[in-house]
Formats: sequence, structure tokens, C-alpha cells
Amino acid sequence: METTPSLLLIFLSFLAFAASDVTPDVTYSSRLIHRFSNEAMLLRVPRNDHGIRWPERKNLEYYELLVNSDFQRQKMKLGSKYNLVFPSQGSKTTSFGNDFGWLHYTWIDIGTPNVSFLVALDVGSDLLWVPCDCVQCAPLSASYYSSLDRDLSEYRPSGSSSSRHIPCSHQLCDSSPNCKSSKQQCPYTIDYYTENTSSSGLLVEDILHLASVGDHTLNTSVQASVIIGCGMKQSGGYLDGVAPDGLMGLGPGEISVPSVLAKAGLIRNSFSMCFDEEDSGRIYFGDKGPPTQQSTHFLPSDGKYETYIVGVDSCCIGNSCLKQTGFSAVVDSGTSFTFLPNSVYESIAKEFDRRINATITSYPGYPWKYCYKSSSQELPKVPHLKLVFPFNNSFVVLNPVFVVYGIQGVSGFCLAIQPMEGDVGTIGQNFMTGYRMVFDREKMKLGWSSSNCQDLADGKRMSLSPDGTPVNPLPANEQQSTPGGRAVAPAVAGRAPPSKPSAAAPTRPQQFIYLPLLPLLVLLHVVISSFPLDTGTITHG
Ligand SMILES: *[C@@H]1O[C@H](CO)[C@@H](O)[C@H](O)[C@H]1NC(C)=O
Ligand SMILES: *[C@@H]1O[C@H](CO)[C@@H](O)[C@H](O)[C@H]1NC(C)=O
Ligand SMILES: *[C@@H]1O[C@H](CO)[C@@H](O)[C@H](O)[C@H]1NC(C)=O
Ligand SMILES: *[C@@H]1O[C@H](CO)[C@@H](O)[C@H](O)[C@H]1NC(C)=O
Ligand SMILES: *[C@@H]1O[C@H](CO)[C@@H](O)[C@H](O)[C@H]1NC(C)=O
Repeated sequence: METTPSLLLIFLSFLAFAASDVTPDVTYSSRLIHRFSNEAMLLRVPRNDHGIRWPERKNLEYYELLVNSDFQRQKMKLGSKYNLVFPSQGSKTTSFGNDFGWLHYTWIDIGTPNVSFLVALDVGSDLLWVPCDCVQCAPLSASYYSSLDRDLSEYRPSGSSSSRHIPCSHQLCDSSPNCKSSKQQCPYTIDYYTENTSSSGLLVEDILHLASVGDHTLNTSVQASVIIGCGMKQSGGYLDGVAPDGLMGLGPGEISVPSVLAKAGLIRNSFSMCFDEEDSGRIYFGDKGPPTQQSTHFLPSDGKYETYIVGVDSCCIGNSCLKQTGFSAVVDSGTSFTFLPNSVYESIAKEFDRRINATITSYPGYPWKYCYKSSSQELPKVPHLKLVFPFNNSFVVLNPVFVVYGIQGVSGFCLAIQPMEGDVGTIGQNFMTGYRMVFDREKMKLGWSSSNCQDLADGKRMSLSPDGTPVNPLPANEQQSTPGGRAVAPAVAGRAPPSKPSAAAPTRPQQFIYLPLLPLLVLLHVVISSFPLDTGTITHG
């Protein structure tokens, strides 16, 4: 089946990928290995279709069973209090297009009395930070941004009766080695991959206001104590339109909001994000996805699960599956457009080009090479792109192209994939459009199912915003009509690279091509935030 022209009217989001914040001990598998026991076997729930078979040790199925039985144990003891939990102002997320760097945002309430923040959602990093006791923050006045009808806020821990300092002695204080005393308030710095882009300040603990729906309950308000970066000083992209009001890291690290909520027993250790074709979406903590979803295991890097990495076996364009197109990729909502390893990119782009019935063209200022002329009346059929995962799971990219608008409407489109060095790509938000993506940290699996992102907390379809009007009233084409503008310039976020490649770095001859490898290194090694001592940062050059 080919995608229909209407699907070409996609939303997209800007690329700003952030590698995750490291917390030690996120090695789920090793934690679970010693839980393998007869007891675990007894807890396994029999399936009625097949006989029960305990798998051979150390294969994927084995780990999956371990995780499942581990979870069943925990559930017997604790249970999770709520089925689904979402921000108190609703589960809806919005992309404001070019104005806010194409990322998805949601409103969250923090503190007592509560203050609202419009935070960017980033599964590629861990920390939730907001502008706070500002020394250097992005402008917060609504008049500075075209999409906002209210001013953004600044957080003041001293003004919130529920805020607490996180001391250097706290288990989640990564920078404790640099503290003068253990009682000192824990500082943090995160350097993202975009040059000179960082957030730094002090860690605090405060209340995040959430709402929940249970199996038989209506909305209940839920208050959870979370760790928040009081972002006193931002730089680079964060002063320039990306995440002016903070960022919520949703990575696997212990400090991330989904991790904290699961640890507190409020939800199961999973969350979902759904991105629809009209710049809006949903986020639900605790969501495990529908039973019919497809899925694939997360892969460790360097033995650790610090970002959400998956392994693609091969890629298919239309009905032809291409040889030698396997790769691993970080799944990242904080990256707007997908990057694939060079050789995979070439195979896909050539096959795509072969199958498209349109004249190739180029759009200066756009980052994509395979662009075609078109008109509003007749967008040619775009062959679909399918990613094939192990065990016959497949992911059909509903819309692999970016439609380019001129003064008179559609002027063409581009295959919205960029090549990159190394063999770990990044599956960005444009590939996830039309799907409910489940980041299941219990099963260590990514799940997906096609979805129009309806409200799971409500039986009936809810309106787009509390007052019934779309939060982002701009038609999709207006948001995209910024040829050559910042919209498509590849601003990159991500953590600053480590000073030296570690064992997990590719050992192929290309290794000396250091610069283009940086994204890969960042993704693979994910430096602990900014200790001047241990990251001989090489970005100054
Ligand atoms: C629950 O609250 C959310 C946001 O506050 C709202 O969108 C949703 O409709 C509510 N659901 C019910 C069943 O009240
Ligand atoms: C936030 O504060 C306002 C008024 O200060 C209150 O009406 C609202 O219910 C609060 N929201 C939450 C989630 O506590
Ligand atoms: C980053 O900061 C350095 C030193 O302040 C400066 O020389 C460089 O031009 C900056 N890079 C960008 C992209 O702003
Ligand atoms: C390609 O497009 C042209 C003009 O739009 C059309 O006449 C032709 O039939 C198309 N060919 C295929 C193979 O679709
Ligand atoms: C994978 O799925 C396809 C279509 O559903 C089916 O034809 C094929 O036999 C399956 N392959 C395996 C190995 O299960």
C-alpha cells in the first residue's frame, strides 16, 4: 500500500537531539539475572495457546521472562497505584512548528502554589529542568514568541513551600565528586550536542502535579515528588527558541520523571508518546500500549541501557527489501528528522529515487538531498518505507517526506532523512508520526501501534484543548512555509562528547574521521553531566 497524498501534509519537528544523562546502575539485565530462580519460574503466568517453555539462558526471551516475572513479583507486593498518569493540565502535547524548534511540548505544573511550564519532551535525555532563579535564561515574555498567548514562567524554589534542596550526598547527585561538602546543594550541568547549548543550575525536589485515570475511577489528582533542575543558566539553542521554558527528559535514567513515578509505585514502568499528523500528540505515564502492538527489544550500548536503542534488521521501500540495510538507532522524540548510517541511507535514497515519478530538484538551505518538484494538485505516490525488526515485527513509516511549500502552495517534497557517519542512526519524530510509541522499561521494549492519538483518559474523543479550540491554530502548511529558514537548519542537541572513544566506539578504519562521528560517540557513551575534571571537552575547537 502506498501512502496517499493527504498523508504528505505532515507535521514535523526540529531536530535537537540530546543524549541521555547518565545515572549509574541502569543495567537492568544484570540486576535481574540473580533474580532468576525457581521462584521466578513459578510466577510465570501460563499462556493458554502454547505450552510453557522456559527459554535457554541468556537469549532475549530469557531476559524478557526474567523481567516479566520480576515485575509480577513486584506487582504482587506493591501493585502500581494508577493505570495512566498525565500532566495535571492534560495529556495533550503540541508542536509549535518553527517557533519552538519543531519539538513537542506539554504544560506541566510544579510546586506549591503551582506554577506552569511549557516543557519540551525529550526521550533522549533524563533530567527535567525549568528556567529558575535566572542568571541567563531565554526570554519568557509571550510577546517574544508568535505562538504564545501567555507569558512563560520562571521557577523560584524559595517561593514554593514544597521545594527541597537536593544535597550533594543524594544518590542521584552526579556531580558529588566536585562538591566541597556533602551538605552543599547539588549542582548540575548538561551539555547538549548543539554547540554551546547547555543548562546548568542546582537540583531541587518539588511536587509535579499530575492527573490519573484508573480502571474504574475518574480523573484523580496525583502529586509526585520529582527531581528538577533549577536551570539558572542556559546557553546556545536554549536561549534561541528551543525549550525556552524547560525540558522534560524521559530517558531511562533514574532521575527522569517516568523512572521516579514508577519507583514510587504510582505507575508501571512504561510511558507512551503519540504524535499525530496535525502537530499535536499525547503523553501517558504508565501506558504499556495495546496488546496488539508490535515491538522490539531495546539494545544495550556498552552493556548499559542509557538511551532507547533498537536494532533494525533491514529496510524495505515499497515491496522490495534492500540488502545490507540493518542498523541500530536511537529512538528520540527530541530529534525532528531521522538520520541513518551512510550506507543504509544511500540504499534507501536510491531505491526511493528509482520509484518516484517526479523531477529531482534542490532546495537551498534544506538539509536533504533527495528533493522533487511537485504541485498541490498532484503529489505523486510516495513509496512507503518499512523498517523490519527481529521476530517479524515491522514499522511502516507513514510519511518519510517533508513537503515544501512555496507562495502558491506545495512546490515539492524531500525524502526527510539525512546520512550520518557510524552505524547508529537516530529515528526522529518524523518517523513516529501516526503512532503510539510505547517506551516499556519493564520489558525493555519499544512498542508501536498506529493511532490517531485520542484521549485514553476519556471514553469519548475529547476536544483539542479545554476550551475546544486547537492549541496551535496555524494550518500545517503555514508552519512549514519557511524555506531556508531555521526550520530546517539542522540545529543539533546532544551531550558533549567524552574526551576519548571507549571500547564501544567503532574500531573500523573510519574511526579517525572524528568529527562526523561525534553524534555517535555521544549516543554511545553519554557523558555524565559536565564534570570539568572528567570530560576533557573537545567542543571548544
Ligand atoms: C481527565 O482530565 C483531562 C485533563 O485534565 C481531561 O482532558 C479529560 O477529559 C478528563 N477525563 C475525564 C474522564 O474526566
Ligand atoms: C494550581 O493553582 C491554581 C490556583 O492557584 C488552582 O486553581 C489549581 O487547581 C492548581 N492546580 C493543581 C494541579 O493543583
Ligand atoms: C561557541 O562558543 C565559543 C566560545 O565562546 C565561540 O567561539 C563559538 O563561536 C560558539 N559557537 C557557536 C556555534 O555559537
Ligand atoms: C509519471 O507521471 C507522468 C506525468 O505526471 C504520467 O503521465 C505517467 O503515467 C507517470 N508514470 C508512472 C509510471 O506513474
Ligand atoms: C512474517 O509475516 C509475514 C506476513 O505477516 C508472513 O508472511 C511471514 O511468513 C512471517 N515470517 C515469519 C518468519 O514469521
